[in-house]
Amino acid sequence: MSAAAKLGDAGRVVLRRARRIPRVWVSTVCAAIVIAILPFLFPLDGKAHADWMQFLGRFHPLLVHLPIGFIVLLPLLEFAGMKRQSLRDAAGFVLWVAFASCVLAIVFGLLLAYGSGEIGSTVTGHMRGGIVLAIELLLLLVVRQSWLAGPQPRSFFILVTIVLVTLAWTAHHGGSLTHGSDYLTRYMPATLKRFVAPSAVSAHPHSFFARHVYTVLDTKCVACHGTNKEQGGLRLDSYESLMAGGKDGVVIAPRNPDGSLLLKKVTLPPNDPHFMPAEGRTPLTPEEIARIRAWVLAGASSDATSVPGIFIAEDQEEAPPPVGDYSGLMGEIRQMQQSQGAKLVSVSANPSDGLILRTTDAAASFDDAQLAKFQRFAPFIVEAELGRTAVTDAGVETLSQFTNLRALHLEDTAVSGRTLAKLSSLSQLSYLNLSGTKVTSEGIAIFKNKSSLRHLHLFNTPAEPVSTAESGDRSTQ
Ligand code: HEC
Repeated sequence: MSAAAKLGDAGRVVLRRARRIPRVWVSTVCAAIVIAILPFLFPLDGKAHADWMQFLGRFHPLLVHLPIGFIVLLPLLEFAGMKRQSLRDAAGFVLWVAFASCVLAIVFGLLLAYGSGEIGSTVTGHMRGGIVLAIELLLLLVVRQSWLAGPQPRSFFILVTIVLVTLAWTAHHGGSLTHGSDYLTRYMPATLKRFVAPSAVSAHPHSFFARHVYTVLDTKCVACHGTNKEQGGLRLDSYESLMAGGKDGVVIAPRNPDGSLLLKKVTLPPNDPHFMPAEGRTPLTPEEIARIRAWVLAGASSDATSVPGIFIAEDQEEAPPPVGDYSGLMGEIRQMQQSQGAKLVSVSANPSDGLILRTTDAAASFDDAQLAKFQRFAPFIVEAELGRTAVTDAGVETLSQFTNLRALHLEDTAVSGRTLAKLSSLSQLSYLNLSGTKVTSEGIAIFKNKSSLRHLHLFNTPAEPVSTAESGDRSTQ
């Protein structure tokens, strides 16, 4: 027999065997390959792509609930189907829909990740989970009839269990993407937390950085600048990564807050496209910014426990007492806003959390007389942002009637400190910023023994404590 004939024979044998493979398996393997290939068609390269992709992709978080619902329903129907045939028939249908919606969710998820330029281990894990899940569902579809009818229905239920585990794993990764990886552990009791989520700042847990900078970045920035996403090539989930900076270089310039990109971004006008946090997330409070600024100015150390110019008594996170309900005054509050240029903003949807007096848009023209007009709302105001306004010592006297005031910004005003003693009656006052004013140590002596006042800012004032070598650099403030 010639070599060619032998080869022909072998080919025929292979073909005959292949034909014996049921066609359903051939198509299953083909479908599985197509699903597995999808991510290679849209490789996640960290770059944002077409807007229409993001537009459609944003329906992914909605769509994913379909397969989740159907998959959870499946074992219930299969079990109940042991007693009632109609439910068993329904289970077959639900499995089909689960598979179809799972594929749909994968496609939209890819559009979202590829369109928005998302990268990171969580997003790839989530994507692979979804693909494995779809292939498992496909397998279930193929074997369901024969396994359930055959002597081994148990194998079928084992496969269903594997599907449920894959689902839970994938869903958890998806949740980490939208809510941050510490979503489940943030409010976990401390004893339990030690085991599952060791702190990222374990090296110097008592440092100023760990207590007052890291905590802020962790809640407000890490969702986009952490393990899940590295927007702008920047991670803010550890001291090292913060100091390493992003695609445009360092973001923290020690001793030079004005030259620090991070501080620049968080102090831009909120509607600026480069404002951080992006996408309308909760901005940093003036107090948080002041702390980061002070920390940078003092050298941005990883282990220093205190920062000159900021006194923060140990954090005793007590909920402040509720203020009265201001809902009845809403009409007046709105009117006030129109005539004054200053705003009264609700702290939360709950009226007893109080109001914030905001002057940002009208700061330069906001003076003592205007402040006096807010006396009517005094008991409801818990925070007064009067930095850079024309408020003077007379205004401070008015403020002494704001009995529920917790945070007071008077930085860069003409306040001299002469009337500051009046504020000592404010039992809730825990934050006072007097930076850039002319207050002297005599003026603030009254606060020395006031333990409720946990944050007192005195940069660039005659009262600023002269301490350590850093004081020389403070002229940059
Ligand atoms: C909703 C997502 C999101 C959140 C939350 C967020 N950022 Fe960003 N951030 C981005 C994106 C997107 C970029 C890239 C934009 C660019 O480079 O123009 C970026 C870039 C930056 C950069 C510039 C990095 C570089 O080298 O160019 C800094 C600094 C920054 N963010 C700081 C912060 C800080 C501080 C917070 C928290 C207060 C924060 N971001 C929260 C999305 C976010």
